[in-house]
Amino acid sequence: MNKKITIVGAGNVGASVAQRILEKGLGDVILVDVVEGIPQGKALDLQQSTPLYGYDCSVIGTNDYKETADSDIAIITAGLPRKPGMSRDELLRANAEIVKLVTREVASKSPQTLIIVVTNPLDLMTYVASEISGFPKKRVLGMGGVLDSARFISFIAEEFNVSIEKINTMVIGNHGDLMVPLPRYTTIAGTPITELIPKERIERLVERTRKAGAEIVGFLKTGSAYYAPAAATVEMVDAIVNNRKKTLPCSTYLNGEYGIDGIYAGVPVVLGTAGVEKVVELDLTEEEKNSFLKSIEAVREGVKLLKGLL
Ligand code: NAI
Ligand code: 2OP
Repeated sequence: MNKKITIVGAGNVGASVAQRILEKGLGDVILVDVVEGIPQGKALDLQQSTPLYGYDCSVIGTNDYKETADSDIAIITAGLPRKPGMSRDELLRANAEIVKLVTREVASKSPQTLIIVVTNPLDLMTYVASEISGFPKKRVLGMGGVLDSARFISFIAEEFNVSIEKINTMVIGNHGDLMVPLPRYTTIAGTPITELIPKERIERLVERTRKAGAEIVGFLKTGSAYYAPAAATVEMVDAIVNNRKKTLPCSTYLNGEYGIDGIYAGVPVVLGTAGVEKVVELDLTEEEKNSFLKSIEAVREGVKLLKGLL
């Protein structure tokens, strides 16, 4: 039987996630949005593409959460973009309200589902979904590090003029300006890039990775990235559906790991059918640890703002 995968938010990211799930035959999709007509129209269009992908997966669009009942996975992409004049705090409040509402609906209709949050600010919205659902922490996680790592790899492949195929990396911390790409854990066919190019060149790639989302917004003006975000989300869905036990950087609840307690932030985890099956603790240098802690501090500040809202 196909897995049932709900996607809340039928915008750029949500619809692209649906498309990739169907292309890969990972499950049946329920696309939900607050706007009438949009999920229905996009779902019909997507359904008509399935004969060309070669998988018997269905997709329906709806404004009613009843249709999402008993989902195996629920992906939350619903949210507002930051509008001109809107502060970060205002965006945080607005999206927290949306994620709260959506999580309540999803969790009540699918008490056994696993939740993947995509809405920004990512680590904080994952925290909201976790608090509101009350689910075991291993069943609530966020997508940030997989995207940031893919971006870092693509910049490295370009810089070295090599295939992406043998490049591995790890980006931890929050999904934001303070994310922590780890050059020491970034290898080309097994050799760390720290042994291949000078520090300044690496720092340039790291900075571009940190600002990669903003670089795209700078071009698009009215929206943010969605092709790579959708691909990154589906990498996580694939690991879960196929129980791949892949080690991927995900926003995860930290319960003493890395000396951090009580918040969500990006670290490597082993991802399988049960969700987060293990949090992997990397050995960090003093410098890496300091960068990670700085990034965690930013998440903690956001959690303080959320406290009154939950
Ligand atoms: P979008 O504006 O294209 O789509 C958002 C959708 O959410 C819209 O269709 C809107 O109608 C819907 N929505 C709003 N309130 C809702 C509610 N209460 N219930 C159901 N649906 C609701 O935006 P896009 O580009 O798809 O981005 C979605 C979110 O994902 C944003 O918060 C964005 O910042 C975030 N994002 C996160 C990434 C990550 O790496 N974690 C990467 C890319 C985007
Ligand atoms: C990105 O990194 C906006 O979080 C989104 O592109």
